[in-house]
Amino acid sequence: MMKKTALPIGVFDSGVGGISVLRELVALMPNENYIFFGDSANAPYGTKTLDEVVELTCKDAAFLYEQGVKAIVVACNTATSAGVKILREHYTTIPVIGIEPALKPAVLSAKHPTVLVMATPMTLREEKFKNLMHRFEQDAKIIPLPCPGLVEFIERGELESEELEAFLRKLFAPFKEVDAVVLGCTHYPFAKKMIGKILGEEVQLFDGGAGTARETKRKLEEFALINPSLEEGKVVILNSAKDPEMIALCERLLYL
Ligand code: DGL
Repeated sequence: MMKKTALPIGVFDSGVGGISVLRELVALMPNENYIFFGDSANAPYGTKTLDEVVELTCKDAAFLYEQGVKAIVVACNTATSAGVKILREHYTTIPVIGIEPALKPAVLSAKHPTVLVMATPMTLREEKFKNLMHRFEQDAKIIPLPCPGLVEFIERGELESEELEAFLRKLFAPFKEVDAVVLGCTHYPFAKKMIGKILGEEVQLFDGGAGTARETKRKLEEFALINPSLEEGKVVILNSAKDPEMIALCERLLYL
């Protein structure tokens, strides 16, 4: 029988965005094995109802659990805000790690900065984000910015198109003075180059990928699940869209 520590870490997202978390996990723990599941057939999640996203989140986690994973990483801010609590109640024997917008480092980046928080409408609407915002609202001017439509560009592999540039220019047009931007959806780090081009280099961009990878490592240590192998681990990528193009896109994003 395979040792428990050698079992893969399951990582899922509504689509290809979670690859931005997977690449941080692989960078931090290259000797672990991974199964990444992207639910591109049902993306985007962020504009669906809460009930729909809870149901999809539970299905995604169940699918990974059936593959025999030793931990589940919810590499999706939307799914985390909708369902991580439910998953933790259900899967009590393995760690379940979620992601949330990296608001803290953005708030601490300057003295009372203006911080734009880009995320899906659901992430910004849910209790989890409201609580996070209350914690820091004395220290910064925090502006939640729902970005419906942005996920679709990334799902199409459009990271530098003129259409993406026009979409983002329109989105940012009302905000003249911004110090920091939180990329509060795991798809958005793939638009970083374009966001930087529009807002300028002085505006710092923050995402939760690296923090989530560190938290995953801490949890694996706590559960004595760190893989002691010195060999490079395996990464398996699966996608509900059943389109080989989606797997190719995930591979491209992983090694970007
Ligand atoms: N990647 C997801 C997130 O981090 C959600 C995108 C979506 O499906 O709307 O929020």
